[in-house]
Formats: sequence, structure tokens, C-alpha cells
Amino acid sequence: MQSDQATETEVLEAAKGCPIHQINPMHPALLKQPWGMNRRLREEAPIFKDEASGIYFVSRYEDVVKMAMDHQTFSSVMLNPTRALAATSDDEIKEVLASGYPNVPTMLTQDPPLQRRYRKFVDNAFSPASLKALEPFIEATANDLIDAFIDRGECEFLSEFGVPLPLRVIVNQLGAPVEDLHLFRRWTEAAIRNLSGQLDRDGLLQAARETVEFQHYFVERIEERRNAPQDDILSKVVNASIDGEQPLSHPEALSMLQQILVAGNETTSSSLTEGIWLLIQNPDQYELLKKDPSPQMISNLVEEVLRISSPSSNMFRRAVEEVEWHGVTIPKDAILFARFASANQDGAQFPNPEKFDLTRPNLKEQVAFGKGVHHCLGAALSRREMNIGFKILLERVENFRLADGASEPEFAANALLHGLTRLDVAFDRVQ
Ligand code: HEM
Repeated sequence: MQSDQATETEVLEAAKGCPIHQINPMHPALLKQPWGMNRRLREEAPIFKDEASGIYFVSRYEDVVKMAMDHQTFSSVMLNPTRALAATSDDEIKEVLASGYPNVPTMLTQDPPLQRRYRKFVDNAFSPASLKALEPFIEATANDLIDAFIDRGECEFLSEFGVPLPLRVIVNQLGAPVEDLHLFRRWTEAAIRNLSGQLDRDGLLQAARETVEFQHYFVERIEERRNAPQDDILSKVVNASIDGEQPLSHPEALSMLQQILVAGNETTSSSLTEGIWLLIQNPDQYELLKKDPSPQMISNLVEEVLRISSPSSNMFRRAVEEVEWHGVTIPKDAILFARFASANQDGAQFPNPEKFDLTRPNLKEQVAFGKGVHHCLGAALSRREMNIGFKILLERVENFRLADGASEPEFAANALLHGLTRLDVAFDRVQ
């Protein structure tokens, strides 16, 4: 089943009733709309081996949490990098990469104690005091973006608000001028395409060029900030000296900056955008928020949007030893997916999980930011951007709805990141 010729609807229909082992979870139709499949995997095959990729899917809330908390058994260091670029044997691509800097495993791709060492370099930059100081910039940026579309009465929300809000914040904090925003967008998209696992050879070559361009650009910014530190994340990261150690080397700093850039953009953009789509689809919850737009309710909105959107849907782990789990033998060095999005839809943890419900008593138990040692570095920043972004949107704009003639928005087919490809909305100005 799920042949290349089948339409997306046929694939989704087939996935409902076929024997569980016949499901191809990497089929683009199921990457876009994974919810029904996820329910079946949680119920019938909590540890599921995808034969094509060899990846073991871990789908229940309690198992995903257990795996994220046990970095001794489930490592984040990959022996054979699954990222397409790192694994390439193509000479031209290797030559392009050789003109840049080597890829060093740091936070996301490292285990303790080294992972903790790298986290110490960024602790100060992401401390509550550093983030508090960013609030006026986030507010001003949200207002500027709304100013640019409010008179039109409609916008494409992803590109006009969802993407530029976190992007402008991170670009500002990584010490780059606003004129270079388009470069960051391009580099982020290249890194996401590399992660998608859907690149052909030309796509990989292009991604390699973008990666090297990013590296050379940032080596210049790093040197600038070492010579003349400023009040931004980049200066704090590259000048941090932990326990009397040397500061980060260029390859280490580049690896960390790339993670911050990629992890910090696409994810928050997706949650902001899906948040508006969820409000449109759930007028009862939209009304509730309108009646009570208190900081507490906006914070509830942020947590529930994070739970349902879970943009960082699956993350890699490697089994460091053979593991017996729910009757499945997972061999040493097998690759697993910690399925944060599926965990967030687990009815055993969140009753009536499909319901978008701002009054859920256990909203804070959502695991969109992961759990354990790798818990998201940018969680507090992202929460601030979303709280401020939604608050200002609700104050200035009401009655969000799909724009006239717009079709239902679609999700992108990506094995690691989940998000809408666009969202055309109309709205009214709050009088
Ligand atoms: C809605 C927004 C976001 C979501 C859903 C999200 C999700 C996640 C998840 C699930 C992890 C854990 C990965 C694992 O266990 O392997 C993670 C780690 C990470 N995130 Fe985020 N993230 C978001 C925003 C951000 C932002 C704004 C930044 C930075 C500015 C950021 C930087 C990172 C970094 C560097 C790590 C790796 C931490 C480590 O391994 O020690 N993220 N994120």
C-alpha cells in the first residue's frame, strides 16, 4: 500500500485500516497529516520499526519522556550522521564543504558531559534577565509587522508575521543588520531542507554552498564581537569563558549558532501561525480568549498551541545498547525517533487530545520543548515571543478568518519539523 501513484487521500484512507506493519510513516501524506497514524501507533505498536529507514518510532507520552530522560541509554550522538550533507560521498559536495569549517557535535548532537559544557556557554545569553531585556524589541517588532498589513484587512500570516517575528529577534541578537534578514531566511531554509531527507543531488550541492556561506559570514561576526562586544546573544556566547577554559573555537561556535538559528526560527514561526489557524477553527476558544485576554489565558493559549502544533515533531536518538521494549528488540546503535508531537496527542496524558482546550488542567505537561538534558535552550525566548505576539495581535486585530477564496492551509512534508506552508487570513481591526 501507499505506492507513489496513490493520492494523498488514498494513502490516508489506507493507513486507517491496513495491518499496522504496512504503514509507511515517511510517506509525504502521513508526514503532513500524521494524527490518525499516530493514534494507531500509540495503541497498536508503541515501538514501531519503519523498515524502509530502519528507524524505531517511539510514540507514547510516557515512553517519549522516559527516553528523553535517559541519555545514558538513548544518545544524541549519531555514529553515521543521518543528516544528508554530513553523510554524502559526492566529491563536488565534499569539496564545497571542505572550503568551510568542520561540523562539530555540540548541544543538540552531543551527550553529557560535553553537552552540558556547551550549554554553559549559552546559559548567560538565555538567562531570564537577558530575555527580559529583549521584551521591548519583541513588542516593537510585533507592532511594526502588524502596522504593515492591518490596513489591507488580510495577510499571508506565515510570511508576514509568523516568520519575521522570531527571525528579526534572532538576527538582531546574532549581531547582524536587518538588511541581512533575507540571508538568514535562506540559510534557515537550506538547513531545514537538509534535515527533510528529501533532497536530490543538486539540492544537496546547493545546501552545502549555503552552509559554507553561512559559516564564512558568521566567522566575520564572531571576530567583530570578540574585538568589540555588544549587548547581544552573539557577544555573550563567543566571549563566555567557562571554568577558566578557552572560549569556543570557530567550528564549535558555528555549530552552536547554526542550531540556534535553525531551532529558533522555523519552530516558533510554525507555532505562531498554527495558533491563529487553531483559533479560526475553534470559535468557542477564540470567544473565551476575547472575553478574558488576561496574561494567564494568553499563557494557556501558548501552551495549548505548543501542545497541538509541536513543531519539533520527531528527534533522533541512538540506542547505546540492545533494548527490549514493549516486546520489540531494539539493537545496539539503532536509530529511534522521540516523537514529541505524538506524545502531546496521547489521550492517556491529555484526555480528548484532539480538542483545542485553553482550560486543560495539565497544559504545562506538554513536551513540545522536549524533556531532560536537551530541554530546549530557547523555550523561554519562544514563550516570550508567543505571549507577546498573541497579546498584541488580540489587542489590535479581531475576527481572524480564512481569506475569501483561500483554500484550507496545508502542512509541509518533513520528518522532523511540522508546520503550515502558508495561511491566508482576513480580519477586522479592533476599534
Ligand atoms: C516553538 C518553539 C520551539 C520548539 C517547539 C522547540 C523544540 C525543541 C525540542 C523538542 C528540543 C529538544 C531536542 C532533543 O531532545 O533532542 C529543543 C532543543 C533545542 N532548542 Fe528548541 N524549540 C523551539 C524554539 C527554540 C528557540 C527560539 C531556540 C533558540 C533561540 C531554540 C534552540 C534550541 C537548542 C539550541 C536546542 C538544543 C539544546 C540541547 O540539546 O542542549 N529552540 N528544542
